[in-house]
Amino acid sequence: MTLVAGIDSSTQSCKVVIREAETGKLVRQGRAAHPDGTEVHPDAWWAALQEAIEQAGGLDDVAAASVAGQQHGMVVLDENGQVVRPALLWNDTRSAGAAADLIQELGGGEKWADAVGIVPVASFTLTKLRWLARNEPSNADRTAAVCLPHDWLTWKLSGSTDISTIKTDRSDASGTLYWSAKTNQYRPDLLELGFGRLIETPEVLGPTGIAGHLPNGAPLGPGAGDNAAALFGTGAAPGDVVVSIGTSGTVFVSAEVSPDDPSGTVAGFADVTGRFLPIVVTLNAARVLDAATKLLGVDHEELSRLALTAPAGADGLVLIPYLEGERTPNLPDATGSLHGLTLKTSDPEHLARAAVEGMLCALADGLDALVDRGAAANRVVLVGGGARSEAVRRVAPELFGLPVLVPPPGEYVADGAARQAAWVALGSDEPPAWTAETPEVYEATPVPLIREQYKRVQPR
Ligand code: XUL
Repeated sequence: MTLVAGIDSSTQSCKVVIREAETGKLVRQGRAAHPDGTEVHPDAWWAALQEAIEQAGGLDDVAAASVAGQQHGMVVLDENGQVVRPALLWNDTRSAGAAADLIQELGGGEKWADAVGIVPVASFTLTKLRWLARNEPSNADRTAAVCLPHDWLTWKLSGSTDISTIKTDRSDASGTLYWSAKTNQYRPDLLELGFGRLIETPEVLGPTGIAGHLPNGAPLGPGAGDNAAALFGTGAAPGDVVVSIGTSGTVFVSAEVSPDDPSGTVAGFADVTGRFLPIVVTLNAARVLDAATKLLGVDHEELSRLALTAPAGADGLVLIPYLEGERTPNLPDATGSLHGLTLKTSDPEHLARAAVEGMLCALADGLDALVDRGAAANRVVLVGGGARSEAVRRVAPELFGLPVLVPPPGEYVADGAARQAAWVALGSDEPPAWTAETPEVYEATPVPLIREQYKRVQPR
């Protein structure tokens, strides 16, 4: 039996799964929490990874491992490989001004979409480098290399301290703004535009490239951004749109071509197999539900029960869920708001329903944007912590207007990384075809009113 490890270093925690390479059967797993906040020292990820690996029974017996992780986070290193400052994460919006400047400096969103398939927003790495150059010049001066959370963890697992040996993969490189998934090339001119000078960037590996070795000699795969790993881990078929409700809300598909959306709504990332991954990302997803539980003083199960007690459309009560600002639409300073409060809607049931609907409306807008850019959408595959809510599962088909498949709760990002590791370990031309567990299926039951009333009050 050949074992492989898949790691998901996400915003909130680190998960490790050990699976059988040939079949995908789960053998062991572990997890550990990450600190809160949008600025985190990478050492905290390393400590959590060690804890999760230990819980998963160690990596001594695996034949390969791959790391997937939260995308875009700016990890800056000095020439000796030391971390210069805590990483700014994908959901840190302080570089919103830098993003606007970069759009203007290159001559508009269309120029960026042409160059790298994405348009600057505060999440993307180059905007954070610009922020560093402008706001912390001495840290910027010490910076000799930049990489992403998954690159850094892979490199640490390899035991190297030489910044010229850091590797990444297409999916994560495609979210930096200085690498193009269309040409598979860096754009040093754009890195220089953003940061003011060139620094070391990781080599971008192909789907089964080797990023280093574990102490037992097992190869480390190229790894991936978490969304690309989730697509690979769910085994989504063509026409399946994955909607993931985690700290971020993401809506994505696998595609042959880059969407090149000049508005930046749809980002043209790469997937883990050599194709593209058009994606729409919101900053407000599972934590909208968390906030609603706090407001109502209930747990998630009760929130779901309350939401399912109120009618579809919550009698006109609409929650705009921009609790952390928003990225799609690009409103980094926005706040959430509640519209349509009346005596009738002023109760926990209506508020619970409005929270679920508001969060899902933002994702349904994302689905529309993907379809407008040419994505085939036959079914929705719903994953992430938010999919554990029965209300979310039942309301989703009313908003997406497509059948919604909900695979059993699982670590699909870590699974995608494990499947990549299995591909590396087995040395096969094609990735191993692990059989997916049977999903719950919710038939499409569109209720147009919910999206219409949301659109009427949505800030633009
Ligand atoms: C994708 C994005 C988020 C993070 C969350 O562009 O910013 O989905 O990857 O982990």
